[in-house]
Amino acid sequence: MVDDTLVWDVIAGRISYNTLIVAHDLEIFEKLSDSSKTLLGLSNELGLEERPVEALVLMLVNLGFVVSKNGKYTLTDVSKKYLLKESETYFGGMLALSNKSNWTCEQLKQSVITNSPQVYSGVDIFDAHIDDNDKSEKFTHAMHSASMSAALGWPDKVDLSSNHTLLDVGGGSGAHIIGILKYYPHLSAVLLDIKTVITAAKKLLSEYNLQARIKFVSDDFWKCEFPKADVHFYSQIFHDWREEKCLLLAEKSFQSLPEQGKIIIHEMLFDDDKSGPLMASAGNVGMMAWTEGKQYTGSEVKKILKKSGFQNIQIMPTTGYWSVVVGCKI
Ligand SMILES: C[S@@+](CC[C@H](N)C(=O)[O-])C[C@H]1O[C@@H](n2cnc3c(N)ncnc32)[C@H](O)[C@@H]1O
Repeated sequence: MVDDTLVWDVIAGRISYNTLIVAHDLEIFEKLSDSSKTLLGLSNELGLEERPVEALVLMLVNLGFVVSKNGKYTLTDVSKKYLLKESETYFGGMLALSNKSNWTCEQLKQSVITNSPQVYSGVDIFDAHIDDNDKSEKFTHAMHSASMSAALGWPDKVDLSSNHTLLDVGGGSGAHIIGILKYYPHLSAVLLDIKTVITAAKKLLSEYNLQARIKFVSDDFWKCEFPKADVHFYSQIFHDWREEKCLLLAEKSFQSLPEQGKIIIHEMLFDDDKSGPLMASAGNVGMMAWTEGKQYTGSEVKKILKKSGFQNIQIMPTTGYWSVVVGCKI
């Protein structure tokens, strides 16, 4: 007999997500950051009853965010790295956006029925960000928090020792520029994005001592001439657009790059048969609800780069669910 475990697991997935958001909002991770605590100690510190705190903490134990030992609860390494405010790879911005972005079933259903993004009630997300500083800043903070770990995980996989300037097309907060400039001290970078995002990025990047090596360009990447660079980097840009538009960007990069210039596409790639990973499939639903795009397979990205003229194309997994596809203009 086929049992019902899978259906229950999916229901538990929804409750897991809500538990993480609520535990984060209530600052359970911060309260456990300095020392292990008993249930009573943690409840007292939170000013809450033991029963609901135990319910949350037991879910966190089952999910792997907390361990229980000798009657005390302690954070795991993954919580310390991604759920504490002082961490460089803190996911807070993404958790806040996920919580507030009205990810309702009804909205998702409307996206499917209308084949259009519904997160901003049918308004194009990037058009909305041109006019709305607040939305743009929240989105940029969310992207920053979700990109920092990935940004520190790819620079050692791609040889840029003979390159000079990296153009981050739609670079958002500049998370990837932080990763690459830290790893390659000889490189400089150009961050190209819309004006409201550049304003948010300047604020975020002021905490790093990298300003002298970064040029900020507020412009529309469809319309502007690309600033001079010998590496073009696109992170989570292709997944925002239909294949024809990705091809337009890749062709534009090919025209603009010098000989031996490189293009790097950074994405959460689908396996070639699209059977996984689950997160790429979830991201694909997310792109359907937020944009006109989708998650691509490595082969699909390779095909786009090849069609635009790039050669020596390599697909490389980097960290977690992330990969880069690198091509060269020969
Ligand atoms: C999904 S985010 C990726 C941000 C960043 N690359 C990262 O991986 O963290 C897409 C970015 O593309 C930018 N973008 C979208 N359309 C643009 C356009 N026409 N011109 C410039 N930037 C644009 C958005 O403002 C946003 O910062």
